[in-house]
Amino acid sequence: MLNDTMQGLSRTHYCGTLRENHIGQSVTVAGWVQKNRDKGSLVFVDLRDRTGIVQLVFDDSTPAELRKKGASVRAEYVLMAKGTVRERASKNPDLPTGNIEILVEDLRILSRAETPPFEITDQTNVKEELRLRYRYLDLRRSEMQRSLIMRHRIVKATRDFYDKHGFLELETPLLIKSTPEGARDYLVPSRVHPGCFYALPQSPQLYKQLLMLAGYDRYMQIAKCFRDEDLRADRQPEFTQIDVEMSFVDENDVMNINEAFMVYVFKEVLGIDLPTPFRRIPYAEAMSRYGSDKPDTRFGLEITDLSSVLKDTEFKVFANALAKGGSVRGINAKGAADTLTRKEIDKLTDVVKTYRAGGLAFTRLTADGESSSYEKFLSEEEKAAIRTALGAETGDVLLIVADGNNDTVLNSLCALRVHLGQRLNLIPENSFDLLWVVDFPLFEYDEEEQRYVAKHHPFTSPKLEDIDKLETDPGACRARAYDLVLNGTEVGGGSIRINDPLLQQRMFNALGLDEETQRERFGFLLEAFQYGVPPHGGMAFGLDRLVMLMLGKESIRDVIAFPKVQNASDLMSRCPSPVEEKNLKELHIRVDLDE
Ligand code: AMO
Repeated sequence: MLNDTMQGLSRTHYCGTLRENHIGQSVTVAGWVQKNRDKGSLVFVDLRDRTGIVQLVFDDSTPAELRKKGASVRAEYVLMAKGTVRERASKNPDLPTGNIEILVEDLRILSRAETPPFEITDQTNVKEELRLRYRYLDLRRSEMQRSLIMRHRIVKATRDFYDKHGFLELETPLLIKSTPEGARDYLVPSRVHPGCFYALPQSPQLYKQLLMLAGYDRYMQIAKCFRDEDLRADRQPEFTQIDVEMSFVDENDVMNINEAFMVYVFKEVLGIDLPTPFRRIPYAEAMSRYGSDKPDTRFGLEITDLSSVLKDTEFKVFANALAKGGSVRGINAKGAADTLTRKEIDKLTDVVKTYRAGGLAFTRLTADGESSSYEKFLSEEEKAAIRTALGAETGDVLLIVADGNNDTVLNSLCALRVHLGQRLNLIPENSFDLLWVVDFPLFEYDEEEQRYVAKHHPFTSPKLEDIDKLETDPGACRARAYDLVLNGTEVGGGSIRINDPLLQQRMFNALGLDEETQRERFGFLLEAFQYGVPPHGGMAFGLDRLVMLMLGKESIRDVIAFPKVQNASDLMSRCPSPVEEKNLKELHIRVDLDE
C-alpha cells in the first residue's frame, strides 16, 4: 500500500506545544506514533515530535473509515493529522498537553514502520550497544532530544558571547600537515602525491596562532578535532572544541574573558548564576592536596603528606617508600568509621591497587575501640604525629598509601578520594565546581622516550622568570598555562604562546628536536615567526565534556548525536571498514595485515 501524501495539509503546530488556550482551534500536527489504543468506538493515538506528545482521538462522531484508519496505525508510523483541539474528558497531569486532545478530521499515514528493536521511551534499560546500532531510533527518545537541543543552545550561546566580545568565527583546514606531538594523528592518504599523507587536526592550534600573526586579533571556532588515542567515558576520537585565541593579552586577560563566557553560558542555558571569580589553584598545590591536576573540590577528604613525620620510621613499608624517593600520604575519612567496616576497607584496597599501590594502611577509630594495620609498627611519637597531622578524632578512619613512586601515591589516593566522596555521599548533587589550575610544569619526563615532552604543547611559553632554566633545569620550568576544571573534569585548557622565534627554537631544542626535524615539522611556523608576531594566547574548551557536565550526563556519548564506541568504531554505519582494492591502488597503498 502506498503512503499518503501531505497534499493539502501543512503543519500548524508542534505536538508538545498545544494547551488549553488552543481549545476550539483547527490544528494540523505531524510526528511519530508513540502508541495507540483501540476501544472500538473510541480510538486514541499518541503522536510524538521533538517537542512532546499530543493525544489524537477518533470517537463515534468520526466517520467509521477514518476511525478504522486511526486504529490501524502502529508504533513509529509517521502521521499528519488535522483536527480540532478540545478539552479531554479524563486529564493526564503527567503530560504538558494532558488537558487537551485533537479530534481528528483528516489523517495521513506518511510512512509505515517495522516494529522497532526497542521501545522509544525514556524508561529504557536497553543496552547501549543496541541503542547505538539503531542510533536514529535512540535519538527519537525525548531524553536524547532534550540533550541535543540543549547542546544546540550551548553552541548558540557560545557564538553569541564571543561575537558580542569582538571574536571572529573563522574556519581552519581539516587536511593539514602531520606534526606528531601529543596524541596519534589520524592520517589521510593523498592520491595525487603518492606516499604522502595529510593529518586530521588534533586541534586548530597552529592555524589559530597564524591567524593572530595575520592580525585577526580575536578568533573563535566550533572546531572538530581528531585524536587517535585510547577512549574513555569523556573521550572520543573525533570531538568538538570551542577554540579561542586572542592577541596582545596575558594569562589574566584570557582567563577573565573565558570565565565570563562560562558565567554567560550557565546563566543563558541553565539559568544558573556561577559565583566568581573562580578559584585559582597552582598545579603543585592541586597535586599535593587532591592528587590530581583536575581536582574535584566539591568535597573535602584532602590528602596530607606524612613523609616528614615519618622520616625516621623503622616500619619497613613506610621507610622503603621514603628511601626510594617516594612518599607516605593519607586521607582522613572523617566520621566514616561506621560505614567503613573492615570489609569495606578491603574494597578500598582494591581501588588503590588498581593504581599500582602495594596496599592501603588503615586505622579505624570507632567509639568501641581502635584497630590499625600499621600503628603497632610505629613509635608512640610517630603514631601521635600521624593522628595530629590528619586531625584524627573518634569516629574517623585514617587511610594511608606509601610507595617509592610519588605518582603512584598521588594517583591512588586521588582515586580513593573520589571513590570515598561517592561512597560517603559527600558530593552535592546539581552543584558546579569550577576552578582554574595554573602554574603547570612546562615539561614532563617521558620514561618511554627518555626525554622531556611538552606538558601542554610545544608552543606554550615558559614563565618569564623560568626561561633561564630551559636548558639547565627543564623539569623546574613552569608554563604560562591554565586549565579549567569542572567537577573534577578538565573542560578546557590553554596558554600564552611563545611569540619569539629564538625562544621557540630553544623550546624545540629542549624537547630534543634536532634542527632538521624542527625545519621539517614546524618550518612554516618558524618562518612565519620572522614576520611580526603579536603576543598572543588562548584556550580550548571540550564542548562535548562541557555539555555532558552541564546536563549531568555520565558519558559524552550521551550528548553526541552519532558517537563512536570504545574501539573507535561506529556501530550503526559499521565503520571503519575495508575499502575496495581499486581505491587502495589509486592511493598507492598496499595493506599488509600480517605485519
Ligand atoms: P587540549 O589538548 O587540552 O588543548 O584540549 C582542550 C580540551 O579539549 C577536550 N578534549 C577532548 N574531549 C573529548 N575527547 C577527546 N579525545 C579530547 N581531548 C581533549 C578537553 C580539553 O580540555 N590547542 C590546545 C588548546 C590551546 O592551547 O588553546 C588543546 O587542544 O576538555
